[in-house]
Amino acid sequence: MKPVLVSGIQPSGRLHIGNYLGALKNFVDLQNSGKYECHFFIADLHSLTESFEPEEKRGQILNLAADFLAAGIDPEKSVIFQQSRIPAHSELAWILNTITPMGELARMTQFKEKSEKFNEKYIEDLNLRIKSGQPLSTEEALNSVFVRLSVANVGLFDYPVLMAADILLYDAAVVPVGDDQLQHLELTRTLARKFNKKFGKTFIEPKDLLTKTPRVMSLKDPAKKMSKSQPESCLFIDDSPEEIRQKIARATTDSGSGVKYDPEEKPGLSNLLEIYAALGGKEPKAVAKEFAGKNYSAFKAALSELVADYFADFRKKKKELLASGSELATVLKAGSERANMAAEKKIAEIRMKIGISLNNH
Ligand code: AMP
Ligand code: TRP
Repeated sequence: MKPVLVSGIQPSGRLHIGNYLGALKNFVDLQNSGKYECHFFIADLHSLTESFEPEEKRGQILNLAADFLAAGIDPEKSVIFQQSRIPAHSELAWILNTITPMGELARMTQFKEKSEKFNEKYIEDLNLRIKSGQPLSTEEALNSVFVRLSVANVGLFDYPVLMAADILLYDAAVVPVGDDQLQHLELTRTLARKFNKKFGKTFIEPKDLLTKTPRVMSLKDPAKKMSKSQPESCLFIDDSPEEIRQKIARATTDSGSGVKYDPEEKPGLSNLLEIYAALGGKEPKAVAKEFAGKNYSAFKAALSELVADYFADFRKKKKELLASGSELATVLKAGSERANMAAEKKIAEIRMKIGISLNNH
């Protein structure tokens, strides 16, 4: 049997080129390699941890399903499903909660970053004081941890445990993700080991699979990663050619004019060179060589054209899929039924292992 591959994306906004080059493009390439039994899902339960409007969620789910299919994920080759349709994800997350130390979750970078948003002002004030050399008292320091924990919702805190459940439930051997998810995968392996030790061998420890561009940076601030939560930093994969041109023309580049790949000295330009290289199947240094002697705007114009052409077919297919209405829902329903069968089998085994099953089989 082929090794199982699992990955998910949250339906929380349009996909940007970071999502594509860090994850979605790789999903398609790995699927087409024929080496894995692929499962790709819409992480709708995860997406509830950040603010959302219920009337928008359905559209976001269908939009992401259209992204999957238009990018080349094929329901004939891969299982495509919606996380919330498989109750075993939530059940296993609960079981794993009981072996997860809270401290492990409190140190997760994503949790720290996202929970900060819940109380930005308070934490900003504390940071200012620390920077200006006014130390915090022990009580204040403890309090700041407490505020972070008390303001953020429990789902945001528990997010990595649900992610571990998503992966372990299917005995996944490999998980393609961007580098912001590596810490969560490390926790997944830790929980698998801990569970196996306590209850007997049940789970595989999954490996991560990164692309050459596991961290695409913001168009506005190359020190930060491109993020759905900051739409102004993003080049969306369904942007029109005109939007692509405008965004790339306005992307922050560094002082100086020669096109050179130098992530330290020229992070803005190097990020653009990496995008060009990844879409063109080249190395960033080779791309820089091609444009040596040209100015930034000539390179930016060529990049805009490359991006606009690369996604032309994608934009067309996505539009058709969204217009056709029921096809997307049908694909998700069929895929979810398939996933549910595998998940039900595994969760029955887990219930047996921990002794809550009254059946002997
Ligand atoms: P999310 O939108 O958070 O569900 O992310 C979907 C996938 O895209 C995950 O595998 C992320 O690690 C990946 N990803 C998100 N942002 C970036 C980025 N700026 N560069 C590369 N990969 C990313
Ligand atoms: N946490 C991932 C992200 O934000 C999405 C995700 C949820 C995921 N469950 C997963 C990715 C399981 C890989 C495997 O990008």
